[in-house]
Amino acid sequence: MAASLIDGKLIAAEIRAEVRRGADELRRTRGITPGLAFILVGNDPGSEVYVRSKGKACEELGFRSVTERRAASCSEHELLALIAGFNADPAVHGILVQLPLPRHIDEQRVIEAIDSRKDVDGFHPVNVGKLVLGIPCLRPCTPAGILELLARSGNDPGGKHAVVVGRSNIVGKPVFNMLMQKQPGANAAVTVVHTGVKDITPFVKQADIVIAAMGRPRSITGAMLKPGCVVIDVGMNRIPDPSAKTGTRLVGDVDFASAQGVASAITPVPGGVGLMTIAMLMKNTLQAASSSSGI
Ligand code: GUN
Repeated sequence: MAASLIDGKLIAAEIRAEVRRGADELRRTRGITPGLAFILVGNDPGSEVYVRSKGKACEELGFRSVTERRAASCSEHELLALIAGFNADPAVHGILVQLPLPRHIDEQRVIEAIDSRKDVDGFHPVNVGKLVLGIPCLRPCTPAGILELLARSGNDPGGKHAVVVGRSNIVGKPVFNMLMQKQPGANAAVTVVHTGVKDITPFVKQADIVIAAMGRPRSITGAMLKPGCVVIDVGMNRIPDPSAKTGTRLVGDVDFASAQGVASAITPVPGGVGLMTIAMLMKNTLQAASSSSGI
């Protein structure tokens, strides 16, 4: 039987509606409008698209947003000064520096310059540390979105074996830490595999839940999966497709066609995890704005 689809579009819309209600209440009761500042350095087309969609989401939810664009030649000093300005601005509750940054800028130094209370990406070491310790904090958006997808599609990870493929700071490491916490919506046995593992197949084969986040197009196939498993595909790979109008097509890290016949549930690409990232960014910004007023 074909796997059921875990609908990121539907679940993201649900979360956005909740965030809108929360923002309305914050405005009514405290007079606070959540504000998000974007910083975009250079003109990477992918980053442009991301920042534009995040700005649009702000508009839809009635958030304030400001975007500062700088040329790729922008100095680290100038970027740090921009961040210091937003750190000091009480109308800005979240700061997002779109990654990757040009090579002459130290990404980690930039992340650490953001006030951890405004770190809506959840990348600051203070938030990373709190996440590991199980202390409430601003959590990275894509992994937080993955946990929401599992919970809201009726696939509670509690007591299950989740295998995370990939160990990036943005997805693999935080989703590992979130899934293993002794908390509702988590509490899984978690294995992480990565490029240092010669053959990931025997690991993936044991997974009740597969989180594919290694950035390699369609590399997890149905034959590698345990029948009935749940597949979360974080991949966003653009591959050539002469039949498409643009000449390219977006595919995940999972070979959807073969996986669909083996898994019990799967996220599509596009229409799965990708949409959750922005919804969770909005949720984090609302959380940061609420915290700023002592809620
Ligand atoms: N680049 C790709 N994904 C992300 C993200 O989640 N946050 C930021 N700041 N940059 C990114």
